[in-house]
Amino acid sequence: MRIIAAQAKNGAIGNKGGLLASLPTDMKHFREETTGRTVVMGRATLESFPGGRPLPKRRNIVLSTTLPESDSYEVVRSVEELLELLGADNGDDVYVIGGGQIYSRLLPYCGSATITEIEGEFEADTYMPVLAELDDWELISRSERMEENGCGFTFAEYRRKQA
Ligand SMILES: NC(=O)c1ccc[n+]([C@@H]2O[C@H](COP(=O)([O-])OP(=O)(O)OC[C@H]3O[C@@H](n4cnc5c(N)ncnc54)[C@H](OP(=O)(O)O)[C@@H]3O)[C@@H](O)[C@H]2O)c1
Repeated sequence: MRIIAAQAKNGAIGNKGGLLASLPTDMKHFREETTGRTVVMGRATLESFPGGRPLPKRRNIVLSTTLPESDSYEVVRSVEELLELLGADNGDDVYVIGGGQIYSRLLPYCGSATITEIEGEFEADTYMPVLAELDDWELISRSERMEENGCGFTFAEYRRKQA
């Protein structure tokens, strides 16, 4: 599996049920990366989408112990159930899209990550590990710096170090 996230330098990823910043280029990047693929999310992230609806043109899998079954997404009740559902299809075409609980819980199963690294400080209540600070992850590439709505950011690619 593969992580996709937008993160400030201190690890922040969300505040009050929403994202830290509105970055149209990041949204476009997210859409292009994930369309046609499988996205895995927590119940709170699903509820943060417009109308609480799953993302179109993607296979949506939601981790939740409370959500009822639905025709528009698949629900799994545990990480074990998720891994069973994915079976052998657990490679780079499966994107872990948040939020904080799910990134942290699924990090051990992920081999790569694309992180939108946002400059500046934000009020936040949700965090995920900073991959640059982990011994078993390495930076592979970084885009040029971009700026939108007064906010600077880059796209950084990380990979779990080979044993
Ligand atoms: N910056 C980014 O890239 C990014 C991306 C996505 C989300 N976010 C932000 O992150 C925040 C939401 O993150 P969050 O940490 O509060 O919530 P979350 O990870 O989206 O969802 C948490 C929920 O997932 C379910 N869950 C967690 N672990 C589970 C397990 N092992 N088995 C079954 N279900 C499990 C539980 O649902 P039940 O209570 O139903 O059991 C739990 O309440 C929002 O602010 C959102 O905007 C940011």
